[in-house]
Amino acid sequence: MNTFGHFDDQHREYVITNPATPFPWINYLGNEDFFGLISNTAGGYDFYKDAKFRRITRYRYNGVPMDAGGRYFYIKDGETVWNPGWKPCKTPLDSYECRHGMNYTRITGSRNGVEASVLFFVPLHTWAEVQKLTLKNNSKEVKTLKLFSFAEWCLWNAATDMENFQRNWSTGEVEIENGSTIYHKTEYKERRNHYAYYALTNAKADGYDTDRETFIGLYNDFSNPQCVMAGKPANSLAHGWSPIASHYKEVTLQPGEQKDFIFVLGYVENEQEEKFCQVDIARKQRGELISSQDSDVTLVNKKKAHAIIDRFATVEAVDAAFQELNSLWDGLLSKFTVKSDDERMNRMVNIWNQYQCMITFCFSRSASFFESGVGRGMGFRDSNQDLVGFVHQIPSRARQRIIDIASTQFPDGGCYHQYQPLTKRGNNDIGGGFNDDPCWLIFGTVAYIKETGDFSILDEQVPWDNQPGSEVSLFEHLRISFNHVVENLGPHMLPLIGRADWNDCLNLNCFSWDPNESFQTTENNSVGSKAESLMIAGLFVLTGKQYVELCRKIEELKNGKIEVEELSKNFNSSTLQSFNFTSEAQRAQKCIDAMVEAVKKHGWDGDWYLRAYDFYGNKIGSKECEEGKIFIESQGFCTMAGIGLEDGMVEKALDSCKKYLDCEHGMVLNNPAFTRYYVEMGEISSYPAGYKENAGIFCHNNPWVIIGETVARRGNDAWEHYTKICPAWIKDQQLHKVEPYVYCQMVAGKDAAKPGEGKNSWLTGTAAWNWITITQYILGIKPTYDGIEIDPCIPSTLKEYTVHRVLRDAEFDITVKNPDGKESGVKSIVLDGSPVEGCVITATPGKHTVEVIM
Ligand code: GLC
Ligand code: GLC
Repeated sequence: MNTFGHFDDQHREYVITNPATPFPWINYLGNEDFFGLISNTAGGYDFYKDAKFRRITRYRYNGVPMDAGGRYFYIKDGETVWNPGWKPCKTPLDSYECRHGMNYTRITGSRNGVEASVLFFVPLHTWAEVQKLTLKNNSKEVKTLKLFSFAEWCLWNAATDMENFQRNWSTGEVEIENGSTIYHKTEYKERRNHYAYYALTNAKADGYDTDRETFIGLYNDFSNPQCVMAGKPANSLAHGWSPIASHYKEVTLQPGEQKDFIFVLGYVENEQEEKFCQVDIARKQRGELISSQDSDVTLVNKKKAHAIIDRFATVEAVDAAFQELNSLWDGLLSKFTVKSDDERMNRMVNIWNQYQCMITFCFSRSASFFESGVGRGMGFRDSNQDLVGFVHQIPSRARQRIIDIASTQFPDGGCYHQYQPLTKRGNNDIGGGFNDDPCWLIFGTVAYIKETGDFSILDEQVPWDNQPGSEVSLFEHLRISFNHVVENLGPHMLPLIGRADWNDCLNLNCFSWDPNESFQTTENNSVGSKAESLMIAGLFVLTGKQYVELCRKIEELKNGKIEVEELSKNFNSSTLQSFNFTSEAQRAQKCIDAMVEAVKKHGWDGDWYLRAYDFYGNKIGSKECEEGKIFIESQGFCTMAGIGLEDGMVEKALDSCKKYLDCEHGMVLNNPAFTRYYVEMGEISSYPAGYKENAGIFCHNNPWVIIGETVARRGNDAWEHYTKICPAWIKDQQLHKVEPYVYCQMVAGKDAAKPGEGKNSWLTGTAAWNWITITQYILGIKPTYDGIEIDPCIPSTLKEYTVHRVLRDAEFDITVKNPDGKESGVKSIVLDGSPVEGCVITATPGKHTVEVIM
């Protein structure tokens, strides 16, 4: 059978039982500042905040075999050398198991009566990865084992680390303390104020190595390091080349005996005045310190490292820190839980979808096994979309994220497409001009306020392009964002697309014949462009309606018409007092109405919405086109926005999605796929048919159509689309290839060479969109300004479910009963024993029971 593992819902883990997975199946460690990627064979790397500028351990891209390098433990038992995670030696194991849990991974292997289990995690508020290795002798003889740890340092900047060898191979420097702690201090003596260390904290090592060539051997590889094979460390000192960190320990275990070894791999920053430590000179003279640096004045100040090493010097301390991490996750996952007969839906909603949303919050699109961490900063639109997936878990961090994002906006409402997390500055290499970007700020901010009731964020003073002195209220940013669309309309009164809208690869002003040009940043032709986007039109109507609703709400608040105390408490705006929100709402509504008319008049192709008009004003995504007759994005956004619902357009468009886009693995992005390069469309036609934006199943936009289905009240159809791309429903793990516990960005579409094959797992807006799709639109538990709107749109087979939802200071236990097997429509709601009119229950503090009959 094509199965490599299974879910363990009780422990919130995915259990991999065969190490030779069809692709490395990874997990993420850390959720604050210090992060790690870890595969099921312990491959991967660590970084501090920024995967490009503060890479701590090295990773090899395009390696053969792939996923070579990581945190390895080598165990030499007699003549056999093995690793608990199978790789890199790949010595056959008697047992193997990898448990990926919430920000931790536990890998256990056994061989010849010895079991080795390693727990990897980043303790809360700690800049370090802790590895607890437990060795157990299950045999009847005494075992004497030779244990080697291994980590390879990256020379900080992950990009230059891969390129600048003429310098790199001369700069590497380390220090070794008592044989047990290895410090990596390349460039520390000059401009860097940070170093890294790898320590064995609860025992004294019997040797070490810090020079890769000495440890591995120039003609060996990770699978047969010469020191390990010889069973003896060389106590090498790295001078340039490739510094590593390896501890050696001889371990004797009686039958039945078990020993724990704690390793800490950490990162430290020191103030300029405290970078160096004179005291260490005396220690160096006594032989306690060994340094590959010439000048003794530059011994690193180890105080902060010592504090962490001491903190994690006992098993009890490590276990307590692990407990703390688990409690954090108990809390994060407790804001929304569902109980139903469908265990696959339960596990996605209660565990994996929420987990993936937190991961996309932390990593955006920077670091995965498909994103190198050197290429991209945080995306403006990506971050706003990710926000709707985690705002209920960590509202205060969502608030900060919104302010950070908005601070990179330009005064005309345009946006830097990306910004760097370390500096929080807009990325000049990419620039702006993606005309969907501004709308997403409204989308993210509204989701935040509906979750928290915190209107005060609108009063926050936020600069343009991070320029001090340019601050205006966040509300003003939203207003200008809304206007950016209105002020950039094309000949059909539809939004001009700019460089691209959500689809980075539909480059209508690019016209590139030069393979060295970036499709994303090149505009060889844009003056006089008529390129318009129906996707932005739909997005504008959707987020414009949200903007109007927000203005109306603020007006009610100002006039004291709101009964929800929470909201009034949070609204004491001085800057917004004089603004007339009523007339703003009216003005905005007119713009939206005009856009709806423009879509109906110029954006409808008979059975579906057009996708765009190109530079010359020709249709894209029309029956008239040779290829790419229908696209998913405009169907998704225009149906979500309900454009033409009353005229049957929504249903027709949804039916067309089913007819032309859908297949057994989900809905493809466009159909038919492009088979040749269309210079007027750009990158989309550069991909082979069925992949990525050219008719791949871009999972990110399937939920748009699913939400569209709920607008049309078609619960069965919504559900069918939902389960097709949902990881918990994956049938063939070999074909799917990537992790079966998280969404991937793309599954190869029906025109592809291998339909159903997944790629680009983990970091994708798919997580957030599916989260709101299942919780808000299918299960129908939607936060509103006043409380929760209950409006299920479910498969008729779902007869009952309960949702536990914490919203601000209110806690709801909601039971939905569907005795007649309906797809939508609420007959009655009873809140704490009393019938409620309408579908909204108010978020008054305290516990509430809600009974809903459909
Ligand atoms: C990638 C980008 C996202 C874009 C999408 C479609 O996922 O991160 O910004 O919208 O591709 O091109
Ligand atoms: C490529 C990818 C797209 C991504 C973009 C930005 O065009 O196909 O998915 O959004 O790069 O990095």
